[in-house]
Amino acid sequence: MTREQAAARVEKLRTVIDDYRYHYHVLDESTMSEAAADSLKHELSQLEAQFPDLITPDSPTQRVAGKPLGGFTSVAHSSRMLSLNDVFDADEMTAWSNRIAKLTNQKLRYFADIKMDGLACALIYENGLLVRAITRGDGFTGEDVTANVRTIESVPLRLRTITTGAFEVRGEIVMYKQDFADLNAQRTRENKPLFANPRNTAAGTIRQLDPELVAARPLHFRAYDVRQVSVDTHADAYELLHTEGFLVNKDAAVFDSVDEVLTYADTWQDARKQLPFETDGLVVKVNDRAVYEELGVVGKAPRGAVAYKYAAEQATTKVKDIFISIGRTGSATPVAMLEPVVVAGSTVQMATLHNEAEVARKDIRIGDTVIVHKAGDIIPEIVAAVTDLRDGSEQAFIMPKKCPDCASDLMKVKAADAAWRCPNQSCPSRMWRRIEHYASKGALDIEGLGEKNVIALIDAGLVQDIADIYAITAEQLLQLDRFASVSANKLVNAIADKKQPSLPKFLFGLGIRHVGTQTAIDIATQFTSLSTVMSATIEELSAIDGVGEVVAESVVEYFSEPNTQALLDKFASYGVQPQEMQAANGALSGKKFVVTGTLTTMSRTEAADKIRELGGTFQSSVGKDTDYLVVGENVGASKLAKADKMGTKRLSESEFVELLNSQA
Ligand code: IVH
Repeated sequence: MTREQAAARVEKLRTVIDDYRYHYHVLDESTMSEAAADSLKHELSQLEAQFPDLITPDSPTQRVAGKPLGGFTSVAHSSRMLSLNDVFDADEMTAWSNRIAKLTNQKLRYFADIKMDGLACALIYENGLLVRAITRGDGFTGEDVTANVRTIESVPLRLRTITTGAFEVRGEIVMYKQDFADLNAQRTRENKPLFANPRNTAAGTIRQLDPELVAARPLHFRAYDVRQVSVDTHADAYELLHTEGFLVNKDAAVFDSVDEVLTYADTWQDARKQLPFETDGLVVKVNDRAVYEELGVVGKAPRGAVAYKYAAEQATTKVKDIFISIGRTGSATPVAMLEPVVVAGSTVQMATLHNEAEVARKDIRIGDTVIVHKAGDIIPEIVAAVTDLRDGSEQAFIMPKKCPDCASDLMKVKAADAAWRCPNQSCPSRMWRRIEHYASKGALDIEGLGEKNVIALIDAGLVQDIADIYAITAEQLLQLDRFASVSANKLVNAIADKKQPSLPKFLFGLGIRHVGTQTAIDIATQFTSLSTVMSATIEELSAIDGVGEVVAESVVEYFSEPNTQALLDKFASYGVQPQEMQAANGALSGKKFVVTGTLTTMSRTEAADKIRELGGTFQSSVGKDTDYLVVGENVGASKLAKADKMGTKRLSESEFVELLNSQA
């Protein structure tokens, strides 16, 4: 075959293959079998291998091309990518339409579409060819994810009719519910951790550095906006998008009044569950694009559009029992045990009832049929009991007087407190949580002392308090089913390794009420040794920046308890000695750091520790007062843009390490 013949054949093959793709992924129809299409793709790649100069970036063979990426670069959007304000019911939607009708002084028509739950993405075409795909980022700048987005089959690499000029498409990248379920089923078989939901999985996939991995995950792009070309209405925009080869929701429609939009919303209330992707509402826009633009932007959202949100999903189930859970600090929380029920996609079996007063206020009884929902779409909560369904067999909940685990009398620290507490420091239920907390990553970080092992140690009578872990021997552990010689020695060594913890970690590990990581650091930095912390007064403690009266009281109360004294004596007898802090003012004193991305020479926790050791403050996100942003690998564009806007100094990892070394 001559080069000319090959070129002609290649061009034809591309057209037919792209046509197949378009019908299959966009129109949901089939022009030929998958096997036939694969065979044509195979012929095309062979011709391209023979005549490499015929390869063009829009060839169907070039969806996955090139090596894994080193990272993503930030790119500015052609115009800001906006968000939407939410309305939650008919009244709010009517109020919105009345407001904008007044501003525009004309009768408006509305364009409504399903709001997809995925991640927004802008696709840039130049002379008909896809040149860039950019995530939403902070709306002004996003990340260049072109190589990954090219692997999505519903994204055309070239427009169907337009061959000149600039063309920008905005839409949502989604993972379909079924594909998500299949993916998790496969991960279950492979014993891999499961993904949380389709949206996060789609977003996480797009931020993978290896386009091949992205190509292996089924993602879809559904368009909702076109830019850089002129169209009269949103309905026209959808039509143009469809013509140019994009998947648009075919159920989107134009309405003459808000009442019609509300009827449309009603029809989708339940029907939306049959859609292949997740959705939590509708997007409603003024159909006329000129009027829409004229209405402008308030904050981050256009005035001419809103998101109509369906109420959080609810379900009904029965309360089987109400039991008491004893927390780490002894708080006794009533928890409802429910007959399992699926709410917003996951099974709910328990719901916290917070405290005695809350149970009384909601009048929730054992045996009640209750309405459950997910607060903030995550935490299961009982909305109310369906009292009409009671048959008299329901039992009112009575807060027990005694701890269910150790039978100590429950008490309130102050009469006004909502929570009852178990005052017994060695309550077994409280004990395992305390030990687990002491061993947790943020505290002493003792590997192998998770929940199950801790409970086994308590059940075997090997530990009565946190200090006892230091007395455990490998021989004792070998008596328990859970341990063999290697694991027993490993745990004993891991515990022995933590006999000289840093003071802040030790203070945090003690589990004193109200003393979190930062408070522990603040107190340790001020008092430098355990003995001085122990004798500190409320006044001295509350003089520390960030330590309030409540925290100070809690610390003093903790150290004044006889049990605490006994515990600390025991620690000392086992040779546990928290290290004294260096002088209160370290070399990085007063400097505030944020670490973003992945560091190669240390973990984030190690970086945070080093910063704090030298007197600096470790922050979780960039604020006005942040001095340095340490930039690791795979960094999100939004943090960088925010830092730049605030004038925060950027440090590379090597500059950061140098700074630490020069100060240490
Ligand atoms: S129209 C000003 N239509 O929702 C943005 N957006 O909260 C108006 N979204 O960032 C965009 N489905 O990523 C539009 N059918 C749809 C949508 C949709 C999902 C997303 C979009 C936007 C976010 C706004």
